[in-house]
Amino acid sequence: MELRTAVRERRSIRQFRRDAVPRELIEEILQDARYAPSWGNTQPWEIFVVTGEALEAFRSANRENLLKGLPMASEAPMPQEWPEALKKRYTGTGRVVLEAQSIPREDKQARLDYAVRMFSLFDAPVLLILCTDRSLPEGYSMLDCGLLLQTICLLARDHGLGSCILACSVGYPDLIRRLLPVREEQRIVMGMALGWPDDDAPLNRFLRERAGLGEIVTWVSGS
Ligand SMILES: Cc1cc2nc3c(=O)[nH]c(=O)nc-3n(C[C@H](O)[C@H](O)[C@H](O)COP(=O)(O)O)c2cc1C
Repeated sequence: MELRTAVRERRSIRQFRRDAVPRELIEEILQDARYAPSWGNTQPWEIFVVTGEALEAFRSANRENLLKGLPMASEAPMPQEWPEALKKRYTGTGRVVLEAQSIPREDKQARLDYAVRMFSLFDAPVLLILCTDRSLPEGYSMLDCGLLLQTICLLARDHGLGSCILACSVGYPDLIRRLLPVREEQRIVMGMALGWPDDDAPLNRFLRERAGLGEIVTWVSGS
């Protein structure tokens, strides 16, 4: 696939087919993704690939925590406040996700059902959990991990696989450490669902908006 097509056509997949993804394919993607840049080539990441029974145990425990109303305590904290323009984009995303499923805002049960599907990782057959070393300053290691995540997303797209980076998969670090061999000295950065996309699902087809260059680019040339 042409790089530009992969960049433009990668999108967060929120409905996966149940079919398994061959281990060799995941390995091929991760082999290539290792070439993502990192500060001083430190490669400050470790990836846990979760599938099969381990994934099912994680999926149901993650869902139970949501239903119990357990507050998320991510090790890469989510923002609580946004500048106005960003807040507008954030709430806009929430709105189109509901609209794509014809869920009215006031339908609390349907919204909860959707949250349950999200905390169940949209049925994806693979979950990647990306960790870094807790002793590293957050800034650079997070940046490096972000570069790796996007590289994996693009490579996955190149192989016809869908991905969704999922903050909701790392909201309960205790649960992750109970079920996976993640060590105490590691910071759990982010999770990513991987699998074959259900291309017909409206959740995978709605229009995504992007700010125009006028909003995000400042040209500086000459004096
Ligand atoms: C750090 C991070 C965390 C995310 N967490 C979630 C999540 O928990 N649930 C979800 O549905 N999408 C999540 N997303 C996906 C974003 O909503 C998505 O990237 C954004 O809306 C842009 O849409 P696109 O990826 O389809 O281009 C996350 C993305 C990033 C980068």
